[in-house]
Amino acid sequence: MRAAEVVPGEPGASRVVDREVVPVAGELLVEGLLAGLCGTDVEIIRDGFGSLPPGRDHIVPFHESLGRVLDSPSPDFAPGDLVVGVVRRPDPEPCPACAVDAWDFCRNGRYTERGIKELDGYGMQRWTVPPKFAVKLDPALGDAGVLTEPASVVAKAWAQVEAVATRTHLPVRSALITGAGPIGLLAALLGVQRGLEVHVVDRVTDGRKPDLVTTLGATYYPDLAKVTADVDVAIECTGVAPLIWECARRASVTVLAGLSGDHDPVPLDPRVFDGIVMGNKAVVGTVNAGLPDYVAAAEALAGASRPWLNGLITRRVPLDRFTDALEKEEDDVKVVVDLA
Ligand code: BGC
Repeated sequence: MRAAEVVPGEPGASRVVDREVVPVAGELLVEGLLAGLCGTDVEIIRDGFGSLPPGRDHIVPFHESLGRVLDSPSPDFAPGDLVVGVVRRPDPEPCPACAVDAWDFCRNGRYTERGIKELDGYGMQRWTVPPKFAVKLDPALGDAGVLTEPASVVAKAWAQVEAVATRTHLPVRSALITGAGPIGLLAALLGVQRGLEVHVVDRVTDGRKPDLVTTLGATYYPDLAKVTADVDVAIECTGVAPLIWECARRASVTVLAGLSGDHDPVPLDPRVFDGIVMGNKAVVGTVNAGLPDYVAAAEALAGASRPWLNGLITRRVPLDRFTDALEKEEDDVKVVVDLA
């Protein structure tokens, strides 16, 4: 069987190798079908983000998975089931959050993550996973199941919105989503599924993204200044500082789900903070996802239009040429690596 291997920060060292995957007692043996590429993978391979498994000089990349169970020791899974593997594993200590399986809220940073931090990812034709870290999907989802991990991040973001909105008795009727990449589009999907009026902003003026937004029943804007509607909540998926301030100025609850990667200093208008104080507003960060978020994501995808979900997968590259996935093409939304 074949596996991708990378060395963080050394894109030239990326390669595909033969690799034996030995079944592990108590774990599912899974045939890898697809792996999704996200900005984090690009940061790992090009910029050296992430960390190698101890004692190793390479890591198998990719944390967004889709596979089919070959063998299961658990009554909860059967051969043929479509599954995704969870990204994060709890820290060994464990901290108060990891002790209750809320590893996505790990307090000490000693968690590990498949394909990112110290654990091999899902970029291989066979992988194993403990049943506790696998999520069964609606078999009808097919390839769209590879969107479960990004959808889990978004499901957690919505859970934060709801938890924080409750604190101020805020009825959530409308949402602003900044960024129409996979995370923003999936955030819009979950907003529409909640019956909200959803406004999505991205900088592109045409192509797939505006179409995907309008097909969903949300409204697309190529410029945040054009959003004149009141918005109760915002899910900020770009990490772009002026957009963050604008979300915090407009919405009662802003959930930040994007990283800046941008170190240019931006002048701060302190009046934004006055508005946060006077409006009992909240700005909350969120990363990763827990098991309930994966389950919510799997349900949201199962309830979504299949053609719409498939429309998010805009490019497939074969495992042998997985580095092609890193070259951004115009109108890419989600690029996947075909492991078969
Ligand atoms: C992944 C998260 C992960 C984060 C930081 C994101 O791309 O979706 O699961 O926690 O990167 O490593």
